[in-house]
Amino acid sequence: MSTTDLVDPFGRTVRDLRISITDRCNFRCRYCMPAEGMTWVPRDELLSFEEIERFARVCVRHFGFDGIRLTGGEPTVRAHLPKLVERLSTLGVDLALTTNGATLRNQARALADAGLKRINISLDSLKRDRFFELTRRDELGKVLEGIDAALEVGLSPVKLNVVMMRGINDDEAVDFSRFGREKGVMVRFIEFMPLDAGGEWSMDRVVPAEEIVESINAALPIEPIVRNNEPAERFRFVDGVGEVGVIASVTRPFCDNCDRVRLTAEGMFRTCLFAHREFDMRRTLRSTSTDEELITAITEAVGTKWAGHSIGEVHFIQPARGMSQIGG
Ligand code: 5AD
Ligand code: SF4
Repeated sequence: MSTTDLVDPFGRTVRDLRISITDRCNFRCRYCMPAEGMTWVPRDELLSFEEIERFARVCVRHFGFDGIRLTGGEPTVRAHLPKLVERLSTLGVDLALTTNGATLRNQARALADAGLKRINISLDSLKRDRFFELTRRDELGKVLEGIDAALEVGLSPVKLNVVMMRGINDDEAVDFSRFGREKGVMVRFIEFMPLDAGGEWSMDRVVPAEEIVESINAALPIEPIVRNNEPAERFRFVDGVGEVGVIASVTRPFCDNCDRVRLTAEGMFRTCLFAHREFDMRRTLRSTSTDEELITAITEAVGTKWAGHSIGEVHFIQPARGMSQIGG
């Protein structure tokens, strides 16, 4: 079946859908949530698996999307996640999941059996005390077991997302690089973005990707791998063992190549992480059983996609929602 490209006003073809399936999380990361958590979206306001599947199917079959990522909150806290993975894996696109890893020890097998091929695990410190400080959970051990479980069931690649923050974990780039090499996981360092609920972000908290690369290179020589339009800039270790990446979302934005749109857990469609406008797809999903209106609604929404995020410029305004509500 032929598909229709979904092209935004800047000529970028949108092909990647990130779906937050819950705003809840078993962690309380300081840069994301208050200690007591947030006011969670009531269950009946979340999109059902049927609704998620329908939306995703339209994106894939009609618009030719080639990637879907499930996010949260923490996606593994939503009941019956493998059932959703099973449904989405039949769409035949690159299906991925971003998780904090804490429950993977128990869930990795079921997810792989349901058709998940690869996984991204978020982990910002390899030091137990610091991990506790950052997440308000003493669960570094569980996350490490989760990483092992992901590898054991054959998810590949297993990527580790490390958000680097000045004065918090910026001394761990080399430790994480070693860890990645030893385990056979691909570590990617992400610049801290102004999407935190706690208002902890400021430009001087951002550790520039260039600095991260230099500090790794000083201890473990690396060289760039030719890049192809992906957000991560990749480097291989000169000794041939493994690679690392940096995602310079703040200092070298990749908005020109952005092919993403997002759906929040309650079905609000966003054309940028930093967008202020949202489009209510749940209403459309619940009011019509034909896909035509959904296709029109998606096309109209993508017509409002911005050129880029302008973090650091005077007119930048942080969106009202934080990462846990938008999805990473
Ligand atoms: N800046 C950069 N990355 C962030 N994440 C959460 N908040 C931020 C932020 N303010 C990351 C998480 C996870 C992914 C979902 O997004 O650590 O890796
Ligand atoms: Fe895409 Fe917006 Fe992120 Fe830029 S800031 S990469 S446009 S989602």
